[in-house]
Amino acid sequence: MIRKYRLGDPIETESVVCPMPVTEGLPEGLLYVSEGCFKKVLTENTRVYGLGETVRGINKRGWKYISNCTDDPVHTETKHSLYAAQNFILVWDADDAVGYYFDTPCKVEFDVGYERYDELVVRLETPDAYVYEITPDLAENESKASEADTPCRRVVRQFRHIIGRSYIPPRWAFGYGQSRWGYKSREDIENVIKGYKEADIPLDSVYLDIDYMDAFKDFTINEKTYPDFPGFVKEVKDKNIHLVPIIDAGVKIEKGYEVYEEGIEQDHFCKKEDGTPFVAAVWPGRVHFPDLLKKETREWFGEKYSFLLDKGIDGFWNDMNEPAIFYSEDGLKEAFKKIRSFEGQNLDIGTFFQFTNVVETINNNPNDYASFYHEYMGKRFRHDKLHNLYGYMMTRAAGEAFEKLSPDKRILMFSRSSYIGMHRYGGVWTGDNDSWWSHILLNIQQLPALNMCGFLYCGADTGGFSANTTEDLMLRWLTVSIFTPLFRNHSALGTRDQELYRFPHKDWMRGMVRLRYALIPYLYSEFMKAALNEDMYIQPLSFAYPEDDRACCTEDQLLVGESIMIAPVYTQNAKGRYVYLPEDMKMLRFEGDVLKEEKVLEKGDHYIDVSLKEVVVFLRKGHALPLAKPANTTAELKNDLTYICFDADPGSYDLYTDDGITPVK
Ligand code: NOJ
Repeated sequence: MIRKYRLGDPIETESVVCPMPVTEGLPEGLLYVSEGCFKKVLTENTRVYGLGETVRGINKRGWKYISNCTDDPVHTETKHSLYAAQNFILVWDADDAVGYYFDTPCKVEFDVGYERYDELVVRLETPDAYVYEITPDLAENESKASEADTPCRRVVRQFRHIIGRSYIPPRWAFGYGQSRWGYKSREDIENVIKGYKEADIPLDSVYLDIDYMDAFKDFTINEKTYPDFPGFVKEVKDKNIHLVPIIDAGVKIEKGYEVYEEGIEQDHFCKKEDGTPFVAAVWPGRVHFPDLLKKETREWFGEKYSFLLDKGIDGFWNDMNEPAIFYSEDGLKEAFKKIRSFEGQNLDIGTFFQFTNVVETINNNPNDYASFYHEYMGKRFRHDKLHNLYGYMMTRAAGEAFEKLSPDKRILMFSRSSYIGMHRYGGVWTGDNDSWWSHILLNIQQLPALNMCGFLYCGADTGGFSANTTEDLMLRWLTVSIFTPLFRNHSALGTRDQELYRFPHKDWMRGMVRLRYALIPYLYSEFMKAALNEDMYIQPLSFAYPEDDRACCTEDQLLVGESIMIAPVYTQNAKGRYVYLPEDMKMLRFEGDVLKEEKVLEKGDHYIDVSLKEVVVFLRKGHALPLAKPANTTAELKNDLTYICFDADPGSYDLYTDDGITPVK
């Protein structure tokens, strides 16, 4: 059951697609304390889920999360905001589950037991929002997904229903992708493909970071380093490999550059109060931001993707769309002025830090976000009032354009910044993580929360983006990523190379990627069923075993689809780990795609040895797991499957198949 409440004068975000009457008053389960501030008492047993891509655990209790899309590449526990604003929260206490969705583009602070462990406090920066209250009881026309339907899952399914169906990528996007910031030329990419081929490691896509562009200008190609781009795309496609270029939010200011000239001529850029276009800086130096909140600008910008679609490209990633700002023209002037004022002074403890602070606060500065404007639904808004919608609208621009430009073919799209609603147009990757062990765990813990918010197509930079990876870290990370829909190895400029074929134990890595390909019929089926039934692809254990307190406290194991549980090893030098089985399960020990051991284990705790070359999967009772014969690309995968079963027939498994490319109506 869902009730919609209105607070003040909300800005429409179009994140909810089901029309619904507004109920008078305020949500029953929350205490309205004052202007835009809600409270809820949490008992000792209350668990709080949701909020999508944030730091810390699956149960969000014990920290403060602020929805304020931020380009912050250091994802430590101390942070409050990452790139996304996903304001859905699920409060679950014994047999009572209730979900809340705060639909407002302003900053929202979720104090989940941060000030007081027994209180949830939600503070909206401005007291204008739609608030949805979702309880597990189903309306008459809704049916249970299955007997396994639990209160939390029912709340999530109802929420997912009102926000509309999650984005469905092409099936090839379930293959393995290699990326790196710093592939300078066509030759570099060819070498990567060759490296994978020679090492016999499957590969479906290679990503093009900003290096493919001419001077970091969107919708251009550096003809010197990437000559005959369409020919190159074709050459690669003939090997069943897809090139996936990046698109950034900022448009370079440069006379004669078509996108810039057109944007000025047709009035597509965000303006300052005085009506002149706002000047910020990102990779190319000075840029304008397209006003993607404006429908006409979305249409204009979306159409620009045809520049690459026409060259055979069928996938993109949208970046820097919080939007990230290195500095603004005005901010830089101000900074130089301040810095000059320190010249000749004896910089002491007070002034020295003021001095360094000038440069440290120049990027992503709140003053800049408060100094430009959008035209949205016929009104003018200062950017900071609807900041959290920018990445959503950039990806929406692309998604809506693809419906027209590519009506018969699904296009891969995922974004860095997001707001709920964007999940209909693309997936997300979790941004600039590090090659840290703790970030494997963070990756595990972000996945179910992203699923709750509708972002089914998601994944992290496998092996870590910043910092130098190591062989053991990469191997362990692979044991998570082979289960995530987006499976991409990506790393930052200047870090150690981390293409899998470069490692001494590349044969172990090959084995893991081959296992991924063997699992694709299962993973794709489970993904499609989750998308079509508005359900979860990855669930925390508590969603399936709500009566089992141990399962509910388990934050490092996940259910992937209906048949399997994973319990990855994510600590340095561990030779295995304790795994909690909430019911009898069959342990499947794989070395590569070869099943080495099958053993039924009883409900309870087990220490499981897992060597660096192994992947251990737990098959649930009464379930079957289909496996394909691995291939080097998804296009070559055949549907002759074998099944591993635990008290089930292969026929009991509901396999989803389609051509993987035609858009699903
Ligand atoms: C930031 C993105 O998060 C990262 O993935 C990318 O490599 C860099 N921008 C450069 O484009």
